[in-house]
Amino acid sequence: MNMTTKKLGILVGGGPAPGINSVISAATIEAINSGLEVVGIYDGFEHLIAGRTDQIRPLSISDVSRIHFQGGSILRTSRANPTKRTEDPGQVVQTLSELGIGYLITIGGDDTAFGASEVADASSGSVRVVHVPKTIDNDLPLLSGMPTFGFETARQVGTQVVLNLMEDSRTTNRWYLVAVMGRTAGHLALGIGKAAGATITIIPEEFSKPTLSLNEVSRVIEGAILKRRVMGQKHGMVIVAEGIGAKIDPEELSRVPGVVVAHDPYGHIRLEEIPLASIIRREVQKRFAERGEVLPIVESTLGYGLRSAAPVPFDIDYTRTLGYGAVRCLMDERNEELLHGAMICIEDGSLRALPLPELRDPTTGRTLVRVVDIDSDYYITARQYMIRLERRDLDDPEMLAGLAAAASMSEEEFVRTHSLDGS
Ligand code: F6P
Repeated sequence: MNMTTKKLGILVGGGPAPGINSVISAATIEAINSGLEVVGIYDGFEHLIAGRTDQIRPLSISDVSRIHFQGGSILRTSRANPTKRTEDPGQVVQTLSELGIGYLITIGGDDTAFGASEVADASSGSVRVVHVPKTIDNDLPLLSGMPTFGFETARQVGTQVVLNLMEDSRTTNRWYLVAVMGRTAGHLALGIGKAAGATITIIPEEFSKPTLSLNEVSRVIEGAILKRRVMGQKHGMVIVAEGIGAKIDPEELSRVPGVVVAHDPYGHIRLEEIPLASIIRREVQKRFAERGEVLPIVESTLGYGLRSAAPVPFDIDYTRTLGYGAVRCLMDERNEELLHGAMICIEDGSLRALPLPELRDPTTGRTLVRVVDIDSDYYITARQYMIRLERRDLDDPEMLAGLAAAASMSEEEFVRTHSLDGS
C-alpha cells in the first residue's frame, strides 16, 4: 500500500440532517482501528474545488467518540458543486492527491452522490469513493424501503411541533397551515401529517399534471376547511409539502409580490426562498374573504428547525452501521464498483454497496429521486384519515347541503366551484 491509499477523507454536502456526526464518528473509529489515518474535510467540496489543502482537520478516536448524539456537522456542509465546470472533478482529485487521500467518504443527498460519482470517475481508481445517503427529504432510492438517515429524527421533531400547533389550534379555534421541507418529494410532510393526525396533508405526488395553479391548491384546502365545519369543527391543521411550490406555475409564482425564483449551485429552484405557507395562506383567506368571511389561519414553516436536531436512537444506530459499512466497503479491494463510486445502504439488515452509476436516471443523467408512491398502502392509509373533499361528498345530498351552507353558496354553485376535475 502506498501513501495515498492509507488516508481517508470525510466530507459532507447538501443540507444538514440528524446523524451526520454519528456517521463521521463511526467511520473514523472503524478506519483508525483498521490502520488508516483520517481527516475531516470542511465545507463539502468547496475548498477541494478551489485547490485548497488547509481546510481539513485530522480526526482521532477521542475527537469523535462522543459526537454521535449531537446534531449538525462538525465538518459543516456546503452545496458547492464539484461538477459545475468541466475542470472541477479533476481539480478535486488533484487536491485530494496533494492531501494524500486515497479513500473518500461523502455524506449527502442526491446532488452530493452525483458529485461523488463524477470525482470517482475522474480519479480513474486513485480515489475510492463511498457515499452515505443522508437527507431529511427521504428521497434517495434506497433498498427495502429504508429511509435516508435523518428523516426519522426530522419526522419525530416535526411531529411534536405539529402536535403542539394542533393543540393551539383547538384551544384558540383557528386553523394552522404548515409548509414542510422536502424538495420535490412529499415524504417528510406526509410522514409528519400522518403521525400527527393533521386534518389534511397535500403533497406534489398526488397531482399528476406537471403544473398547478395557486387556485387549485387553495381550493383543496378550502374544501377541507368547509367539510370539517360540516363535521362540527372550526379548527384544524393543513400541511403542505414544499414540493407543491415546485409544481406551481413559475410564471404565476413570479407575479406574487416579494417572490424571487432563484437557483442553487446544482441548478435546482431554491424552494426555501418561496414563502409557500404565506402565499397559500393568503390565497385561502382570499377565497373566504370573497364571501365576506375572515378566516383565522396562522402559517408556519418546518425544515430548518429540524435538520440539525440531535438524532433519535434509530438514526444513531442506523448511521453507526452505515459509517462502519462505508469503511469496510472502501477497504475491500475486491469492490470493483468503487472505481465509479458506490452508495452504502442496508437491505434486510445487511450492508450493501450500490454502484453510483446505476443510481442515475438514464434520461437526465442525475441521481434518481424517490418520491411518495400514491398507490402504496402507506399513502392510501394516510389519505383515508384526512378530512378532505372527495368526489363522493358531492354525491351525498346531506353532505352537499351542509357544504353549500358552510360556504354560503347554492348547491349548484358549490358543485361548480369544487368539481374536483383535472387533478
Ligand atoms: O435537501 C434538504 C433540504 O433541507 C430541503 O428539504 C430544502 O429544500 C433544502 O435542503 C434547503 O436548503 P438550503 O440549506 O440550501 O437552504
